[in-house]
Amino acid sequence: MITIYLHLCKLVKQLKMKVLRSILELKESLEINRLTLQDIGFVPTMGALHDGHISLINCALKDNPLVIVSIFVNPEQFNDNQDFIRYPRPETDDLALLAGCLRDSDVVFIPDVNEIYPDRDNRIFDLGHLDRVMEGIHRPGHFNGVAKVVSILFTLVGKCNAYFGEKDFQQLAVIRKLVSDYHFAVQIIACPTIREQDGLAMSSRNRLLTAEYREKASAIPRALNWAQEMAGRLSCNDIKSGVWARIEEAGLIPEYVEIADENNFQPVYDSSRNITLRIFVAVKAGNVRLIDNMKLFL
Ligand code: PAJ
Repeated sequence: MITIYLHLCKLVKQLKMKVLRSILELKESLEINRLTLQDIGFVPTMGALHDGHISLINCALKDNPLVIVSIFVNPEQFNDNQDFIRYPRPETDDLALLAGCLRDSDVVFIPDVNEIYPDRDNRIFDLGHLDRVMEGIHRPGHFNGVAKVVSILFTLVGKCNAYFGEKDFQQLAVIRKLVSDYHFAVQIIACPTIREQDGLAMSSRNRLLTAEYREKASAIPRALNWAQEMAGRLSCNDIKSGVWARIEEAGLIPEYVEIADENNFQPVYDSSRNITLRIFVAVKAGNVRLIDNMKLFL
């Protein structure tokens, strides 16, 4: 009788969304799952969750009986220490949001920095051309830091389907390269960018914008929509300078505006070639740095 009761208690315990903070707990939890060979959906995040994150989680929930969401503000990927300090960390709100959409048996992994980096991580990843364009040059060391944490997380979670947003299109390519170079048993699923009503791409950093800059920031998607309309009608250079001017006129500071082949990130100047183009921007809205991208249909 007591054994059955204990068994039931264990089962009931397993039916709660698990919030795990140590690697040991995560490994134990995965061990139980491995016995039943269920597909695992993995959504790595840095928290301050919004509907963009939730869309990734919903895709993962649809495809996998077990979903793991990680929340870890990774110090290694911040090339600017002020940006790291200011990064929002609303843990209680995040957990409440997750409790509303995760199933009882899913897992939230919130490790401490010493858990992920018990020692200095001096690894250097060769990201090739990806580290020499756009975010690669403008945020030196950023993608190396992303590669460090994602390689650790993939090693911990093991075979899984991992969900990433097209909002960070260059990061998506970095992750795909990581999986291919290091043979992780991970299938990457790309999910579309979720936007606010005025078109601004959702981002954890949006909550750092003042009301004034939040309003100005809607110029970014407007400029990118204009670029989509002009694709095939104007040269790539004219589109880039048009986007640059529109962003500047709104009182924002463009860091880069680039049109590139979305498959290899090589800049494209002649839009008549038969390739898949995408426009990428990084913009300073006050002291908040925002990025966005859109496909250009020719
Ligand atoms: P974070 O910025 O929290 O984003 C987590 C995931 O959500 C990423 O795959 C990102 O592309 C996706 N995402 C963010 N905004 C989105 C939006 N508006 N629409 C759709 N998807 C969106 O990206 C990171 O964290 C980190 O670099 C990480 C991969 C977790 C490594 O530390």
